[in-house]
Amino acid sequence: MSPLTLFGYIFLGILVQVVLFSALAIVRHMKAYQFLQRFLSGLGIRPPEESPLDTLKDVSGFTDTGSGPGSWKGLRDFRVSSKVFEDKDKNICSFCLSPFDGGALANYQPGQFLTFQLDIPGKGGDGSLVRCYSLSDGPGGDSYRVSIKRVPPPTDRPELPPGLSSNHFHDHIQKGDVLKVRAPSGHFFLERGSSPVVLIGGGIGITPMLSMLSDTLNNNSNREIWLFYGVRNSAEHAMKRHIEELAKEHDNFHLRVCYSAPKQWDKKGVDYQHKGRVDINLLRLSLPFRVYDFYICGPRPMLESIVPGLEDWGVPDQHIHYEAFGPASINRRARKQEASGEEFTVTFAKSGVTAMWDGSEDTLLDFAESNGVEIASGCRAGGCGSCQTEISEGEVAYTQSPDFDPEPGACLPCVSRPKKNLVVEA
Ligand SMILES: Cc1cc2nc3c(=O)[nH]c(=O)nc-3n(C[C@H](O)[C@H](O)[C@H](O)COP(=O)(O)OP(=O)(O)OC[C@H]3O[C@@H](n4cnc5c(N)ncnc54)[C@H](O)[C@@H]3O)c2cc1C
Ligand code: FES
Repeated sequence: MSPLTLFGYIFLGILVQVVLFSALAIVRHMKAYQFLQRFLSGLGIRPPEESPLDTLKDVSGFTDTGSGPGSWKGLRDFRVSSKVFEDKDKNICSFCLSPFDGGALANYQPGQFLTFQLDIPGKGGDGSLVRCYSLSDGPGGDSYRVSIKRVPPPTDRPELPPGLSSNHFHDHIQKGDVLKVRAPSGHFFLERGSSPVVLIGGGIGITPMLSMLSDTLNNNSNREIWLFYGVRNSAEHAMKRHIEELAKEHDNFHLRVCYSAPKQWDKKGVDYQHKGRVDINLLRLSLPFRVYDFYICGPRPMLESIVPGLEDWGVPDQHIHYEAFGPASINRRARKQEASGEEFTVTFAKSGVTAMWDGSEDTLLDFAESNGVEIASGCRAGGCGSCQTEISEGEVAYTQSPDFDPEPGACLPCVSRPKKNLVVEA
């Protein structure tokens, strides 16, 4: 072989390696789709509308509300097919919903929620009252079920009006009524599998847990599943008999009910197992030494005590999943500590607040709240559009694909982070 041929081979080898590494780097940096688009356009071929990377997100469980049997975009009419109280105090009421058009029901993941657009005469009468409610039964049935707790005025301010939507549901929504509903969405859900799982529900935070529990037990899986359910006493205990029966029927289901303020007639060992709140000590004492996935939904104080408690116990971040109903996102310790090095100024024009974004908050909504700026929110998961905010300057990046399409020039702060210096109308 002549030196020239040898040099040719070496050069070709290096070239192949360079091409391979470049391709790998492009894919790694999530630019493959843009690259493919440019490449196909260059050849005069119309590229696909959707990024193959978006399709990957769907596979990982993200619900695209616009595809699949029974799915829909925007609002769809549902008829209330039943209304049933679930607790002794009659403060929690379940509503079953069937499609008004008689069509199929979109499937959902256990833990996801529905978004309702309510038209309450005299109050948000322009139809702008948006609220989210978790699906409280496992998927696969012929209707959806949500279970709604009546929200009173805050105890220290009884003069305020009670919760608009929840009281409207309790007092005015009856069997046969028609409601406007967005498709199931949300990223807090339990995937099927065999790994042991711990569900922790506080108060009305039991609803997504019921869906996860029901789906797991309905699928005849032997998956080890624990439910820690915290309520004040038997008067607030939702679906008591149903949950107790499930625990009797399934050996793999371990139920621990905690009453923080038991009534005189509530019997320990019968109505409940532990007096007090669900806390990290109870989890440590109750759970065998195993790797669990934790799913938590409840009031802010509960999340603020249990999530850091699990982190201190050594539970890895990816095994802790939680959802709060309302403006109650909590800052994960790990995330707080590792500011990402990004530095942008964010101006909330209407509030007259400018602050420095250093990447340590999960989202623009968390950042706004930490800086005393109020932005309306519903789902905090990009599903309902309540937090939609106009951008006057700058750009945001989405942490996950939102289900709700924001208007041009607007963003959803609950699922976005600044990409450069930002001015928003909040
Ligand atoms: C993903 C998700 C899932 C959810 N799932 C469920 C579920 O399964 N079941 C469920 O019951 N709820 C659920 N929620 C909560 C639900 O969406 C509503 O937030 C809840 O029903 C309260 O809404 P409301 O309209 O009744 O109360 P709001 O009208 O929003 O009022 C809330 C509170 O504010 C008080 N208030 C009124 N005026 C003022 C004022 N001027 N200043 C201060 N306070 C005031 C009210 O008295 C009330 O106590 C979920 C929320 C989310 C985000
Ligand atoms: S709060 Fe629902 S989209 Fe942001």
